[in-house]
Amino acid sequence: MFKIFTKVLKIDENNIDFNKIKEAAEVIKNGGLVCFPTETVYGIGANAFDENAVAKIFKAKGRPSDNPLIVHIESFDDIYNLAKEVPKKAEILADKFWPGPLTIILQKKDIVPKITTAGLDTVAIRMPKNKIARAIIKEAGVPIAAPSANISGLPSGTSFKYCYDDLFSKVDIIIDGGICEVGLESTVINISDDKNIILRPGHITKAQLEKALPNVFLDEHLESLNSKVKTPLSPGMKYKHYSPNADLFIVLGNFDKATYKINELCKNHNLNNEKCGVLCFDQYKEKLLCDNIFSLGNVDDLSYCAKHLFENLRKADDRGIKFLYSFDIPKNDLGFAISNRLYKAAGNKIIRV
Ligand code: TXA
Ligand code: MG
Repeated sequence: MFKIFTKVLKIDENNIDFNKIKEAAEVIKNGGLVCFPTETVYGIGANAFDENAVAKIFKAKGRPSDNPLIVHIESFDDIYNLAKEVPKKAEILADKFWPGPLTIILQKKDIVPKITTAGLDTVAIRMPKNKIARAIIKEAGVPIAAPSANISGLPSGTSFKYCYDDLFSKVDIIIDGGICEVGLESTVINISDDKNIILRPGHITKAQLEKALPNVFLDEHLESLNSKVKTPLSPGMKYKHYSPNADLFIVLGNFDKATYKINELCKNHNLNNEKCGVLCFDQYKEKLLCDNIFSLGNVDDLSYCAKHLFENLRKADDRGIKFLYSFDIPKNDLGFAISNRLYKAAGNKIIRV
């Protein structure tokens, strides 16, 4: 692929250098690409109204052209430039959850190019909370289409380092704005017709959404996770997403039995000189006999696990791990979104104990 000069700009969210914001906004206005932090993950952004600029995003990521982008706005009124109609329920959700990690899908206006929505009649809209992201959108004066800043198929970038690893020489600017607070992409809800359907779970949970709106449903593809995975699904390529290079397996079952099983597997890998690692809750660390442990934090507070999940997958690759095992994640609240990503990353490869 054609290489371009990438400039790195370090910006402190709590002490924003507006000259750097202007420089990034200028690139967006001129049809270029900027990687910037949001509270969820880093995004790779372009002017959502500029077809050529949006095409560059697909190219830089190697993203299939049938996967639509999320359009980021700075103030609620920007929604009227994108959505054909703004129903009362959009106002209710925005009032409660914006700025923040919620993406709302509505019918699109004709002005939104088809490439941005991958040919759909709907558009996904989000108002991020991160101040750097907000400042760039405001200064650019246009909505910014931005998928997660990673090569398609790899774990989403949650820090500058991983954006840089994936997208250096493919974008004009990468902003170093530290580590993302949430670490998982936004919750996506489709309210473009009379139903309210969660398409992607995230930090904002179904229970929280239900408090704001009656009748919120999970998309049927998410239901299997909700009702426990029934049979080990085939590790079909169809599911490849967020995947590390390491072969990732989820060890399902009682944590003590899981620990025993993982120790057994790691022992065999060591005998075969195969580098292995474990994604492990801190409570079980001491019982594990493995040199490469990646912390999922405390099982009773999953915010650490969410924040560091993608980072852990990337770190495992950095260390050259070939076989990676993970404890299962409790599926309540935030755990539902974490499980969704972890199971996809593992291509649904499960070991039951
Ligand atoms: O937190 C986030 O949402 C991050 C940050 C950068 O804002 N962005 C992000 O974008 O995760 P991306 O492209 O990696 O994921 C967007 C998801 C995809 O699953 C896509 O299929 C879905 O949103 N999506 C976007 N527009 C849609 C639409 N009109 N209808 C249905 N799904 C849509
Ligand atoms: Mg993504």
